[in-house]
Amino acid sequence: MFKEIEQQLSFYLELGVTHLNVPLQGAAPCAGTCGPAATLEEIRHELGDCSRCKLCHTRTHIVFGEGNPKAELMFVGEAPGADEDAQGLPFVGRAGQLLTRIIEAIDLKREQVYIANVLKCRPPNNRDPAPDEIEMCRPFLLKQIESIGPKIIVALGKHAAQTLLGTPRPISSLRGKFTPFGNQLLLPTFHPSYLLRNPSAKREVWEDMKKVRDKLKELGCYS
Ligand code: URA
Ligand code: URA
Repeated sequence: MFKEIEQQLSFYLELGVTHLNVPLQGAAPCAGTCGPAATLEEIRHELGDCSRCKLCHTRTHIVFGEGNPKAELMFVGEAPGADEDAQGLPFVGRAGQLLTRIIEAIDLKREQVYIANVLKCRPPNNRDPAPDEIEMCRPFLLKQIESIGPKIIVALGKHAAQTLLGTPRPISSLRGKFTPFGNQLLLPTFHPSYLLRNPSAKREVWEDMKKVRDKLKELGCYS
């Protein structure tokens, strides 16, 4: 118990957090009653052994997404990297480990949220997603969002934010603000890979994640 608290505090320090709000006592998201019936399997089935874009020629695995099919909180990244492509799971490399710690910093477990990407296949050499690839893949992301029915979507980085919001505005101006998105609220923040290169931006991500935690609380999603 004390070890856990110690680890949490050292993570806060690493994030540059100097003020702690009153912690959420025994926090857990409300279970299972807030979204429509799960049809993630059907969406995965429809995606099939996808060959809708050229990434099918270079991918190892399709990375569909992972997590709680009734999650209140959903994270959308950009595209699988090498580790994700090898394992078929989202955010399992270094950026993924940081994302896991970011999730835990707002008193949630990774299994409680849902994690997906704009693209389901890795672009060669981790290049940016191409417009035609986004175009082919976006409908599946939108169906996943509809199926899960999260209260809040956190768009990780420029590509997720711009794709979902349909805007060319830079992530620096989009981050930290909730925008209505269908039945959801969408909040862009910096991508964990960006944080690995620019650790000082963790401070802003922590500010954004506190907003997410407070909004989920307001919406009754912590019991
Ligand atoms: N970066 C992403 O955008 N998504 C992943 O799944 C991993 C790294
Ligand atoms: N550029 C990106 O693509 N993402 C970030 O999070 C920050 C800068």
